Amino acid sequence: MKTDLLQSIWTRRSVRTFSPNPIEEAHIEALDALVESVNLRTGPYGTAYRILHLVTEGDEGVPRKIGTYGVIKGQRGYLVGICQDREEALLDLGHAMEECVLHLTGMGIGTCWLGGTFSRSSIEEMVNPGEDEIIAAVIPYGYPAGRKRIMESMMKRAARSSSRLPFDDLFSSFGDDIDGPVRECLEAVRQAPSSMNNQPWRAVVDAGKVHLLMNRGGMLKSRLYTRMRHIDMGIAMQHLEATASEMFPTAQWIFEDDLEGIPDEFLYIATLVIDAGTLRFP
Ligand SMILES: Cc1cc2nc3c(=O)[nH]c(=O)nc-3n(C[C@H](O)[C@H](O)[C@H](O)COP(=O)(O)O)c2cc1C
Repeated sequence: MKTDLLQSIWTRRSVRTFSPNPIEEAHIEALDALVESVNLRTGPYGTAYRILHLVTEGDEGVPRKIGTYGVIKGQRGYLVGICQDREEALLDLGHAMEECVLHLTGMGIGTCWLGGTFSRSSIEEMVNPGEDEIIAAVIPYGYPAGRKRIMESMMKRAARSSSRLPFDDLFSSFGDDIDGPVRECLEAVRQAPSSMNNQPWRAVVDAGKVHLLMNRGGMLKSRLYTRMRHIDMGIAMQHLEATASEMFPTAQWIFEDDLEGIPDEFLYIATLVIDAGTLRFP
């Protein structure tokens, strides 16, 4: 199961135009079961969230059009992510929803995270968020259409979707060059989707620890974009954890409260502790 997730990390790309083919019943059931089990857990920060699974055909009142500006076409369902409006909750939600995205990818189903270009009011009516909750993100899904629309190509180009910053601009080390399995883990982070392809993830590797940082430099200061960056970091945590735990079975998150020397433009997020002695595929 985990190995499938690793493959999905590398094959996933945002899909915004979906095929009219209905989703196989077995896939819908698998997704329902997955969402149920993910909702029963909490993320690395221990906060609660709610992921709702809405199927466009069949569930009454599910809006057919949800992406604004014609971004999304032909989706067969959505995952809706609801959490409290605070940093830890957004990180946990990103981590949890990306696990769903990777499983969907493994089933051959396309997805696109939406943080900005969806109509909140049409979703709010359906999911009734509590007073301290926000609808943080929506993920439409469906089988990918054979041909992309012009609108999709434009969105991809605007977000420079297929490009990623060079490895050495994102990740550094206090010791030797980053190579081997740790490099593989960080390459998996580099594949992560991020809002407007901002790639805010940074990491410093230090003796068996991978410290994850969020780049807030050049950040648009609106609340919406700050939220999106936290979701981006939660997604990165999922990619790092899924890859590392495959190779290092004891890998675990810790939160350091006395990490020194972090420049102002970075926000410390979390540390993954990796014991090189436990490497499964030396
Ligand atoms: C939290 C988040 C919010 C996003 N919001 C939008 C959005 O509102 N509209 C959109 O078209 N794409 C959105 N995206 C998709 C990104 O543009 C896309 O992930 C990025 O360009 C990288 O491309 P890739 O996913 O194909 O690797 C979002 C992605 C994330 C992670």
